[in-house]
Amino acid sequence: MLGDYDMPEDACTIVQRGKMFKKVKETLKRGLNDDLSLPAPKWDNPNFQSHPLNGTRYTSRTFFEQEWESVWTKSWLLLGRETEMPEPNSFQVENIGPESIIMVRQTDESIKAFYNVCQHRGSRLIFSNEGKSETFACPYHGWEFATNGKLVKAQDSEDFPINPCEHVTLIELKCDVFAGFVWVNMDPDCQSLREYLGPVCNDWERYQPDKWQRFTAMTVNVPCNWKILQDNFCESYHLPTVHPQLRESHEESYSKTTFDICSEGHSRMIMLGATPSATQYGPKPPLTEGLAERLRLWDLNPDDFTDRALHARKALQEQMRLLGRERGHNHYENLRDEQLTDAHMYNIFPNCSLTFGADGVLLQRMTPHPTDPEQCVFDHWYYAFTPSSGAELLRAQTNVRVDEENAERQFFDYGQKPMGIIPDQDVAITIGQQLGLRSRGFIRATASGQEDRISWFHHIIDEYMQGQRP
Ligand code: FES
Ligand SMILES: [Fe+2]
Repeated sequence: MLGDYDMPEDACTIVQRGKMFKKVKETLKRGLNDDLSLPAPKWDNPNFQSHPLNGTRYTSRTFFEQEWESVWTKSWLLLGRETEMPEPNSFQVENIGPESIIMVRQTDESIKAFYNVCQHRGSRLIFSNEGKSETFACPYHGWEFATNGKLVKAQDSEDFPINPCEHVTLIELKCDVFAGFVWVNMDPDCQSLREYLGPVCNDWERYQPDKWQRFTAMTVNVPCNWKILQDNFCESYHLPTVHPQLRESHEESYSKTTFDICSEGHSRMIMLGATPSATQYGPKPPLTEGLAERLRLWDLNPDDFTDRALHARKALQEQMRLLGRERGHNHYENLRDEQLTDAHMYNIFPNCSLTFGADGVLLQRMTPHPTDPEQCVFDHWYYAFTPSSGAELLRAQTNVRVDEENAERQFFDYGQKPMGIIPDQDVAITIGQQLGLRSRGFIRATASGQEDRISWFHHIIDEYMQGQRP
């Protein structure tokens, strides 16, 4: 785009150069406010070969252990939420595979991350998931660490060759914040988070999601390898069979869906939303009840769309633009038209899938079991802007469960209680897939073009395991 302002090498006076630089600067300043009616620019979409996806990747302990060392300890990992550590000394603890990590707000407002392990003789330090405390006291011999990591109290300190408080600290990890999420990297020599996320940053910044609050948070133990879930979120081929209800609100056809991958290792899918599926229903689909409700919430009359349901999406975009600001949705000013209505799903390497709607994001995160390749932990969280009209608007705009603002986090095993229709449908399928992937009767996948993002995901895993990344 900036190519329009490329500097000619000859016959350019200083004045002209000044004008041109001013134009470039203005364009950069406008930044997010380019032509919002245009679709998102394509990513770089590098060429790569389809991946065989054999079952061993999902069952072998050797592969699982190598994957931990090569991928998990080298990648930026989305760990927590900044708004959930509102004050100095507020902390959150998250477990990833065999590791447990503390994130804690500092007095200067920054956030630091430490391994959750006492530096005396290695006990786990904190067993709660969140809280607020000036020190972290070890349950074993009572050593106390300040929230900046420094040891401040050691029992019988005179009995050590050197007082441990003079030199012992918790072990810190690289930590950064983007889009209101806290990310960590166990590799001290890692690239920056922004370099790692690449084109994802520009897309997400448009939503201004930094202060979005939690409306649903479930953490569920699932008996399948973590990659089976991420694979599932890398394709929409399963939608008509596993989630037949989505035809009421999305155009699921791959031929009308946009897919992208980027060299950084992530992928994106943009699927038409706020529309019944013409592919599934035929050229004159009915106006579904969910869509009618969404129109009503934006002061549009569903009766005007009874015979022309395919026009509802555009009408909603225009109405959301018109009424957005007066209703407090100031971030709409930066959103592309398609971001107002369509599902924007991002698969962030290695283990997150985030689906953005105009006012909220569904975060689905998979982390490995500490030792068993055939189990994982699945997080299903929803963060959203708080509309003045309350959670009702969010419920009309998303297909996933929306509880209440600051919903309490729930922990359970899959099957103990419902997560919501869509995640229950997904997880039931992935558990069945794990059973098949164990079989000597499965040699390799026969994947379609619309499943290429799975291949890309595994291609990146292989590059990490072969030492070609990061
Ligand atoms: S292991 Fe923590 S105080 Fe001893
Ligand atoms: Fe699904």
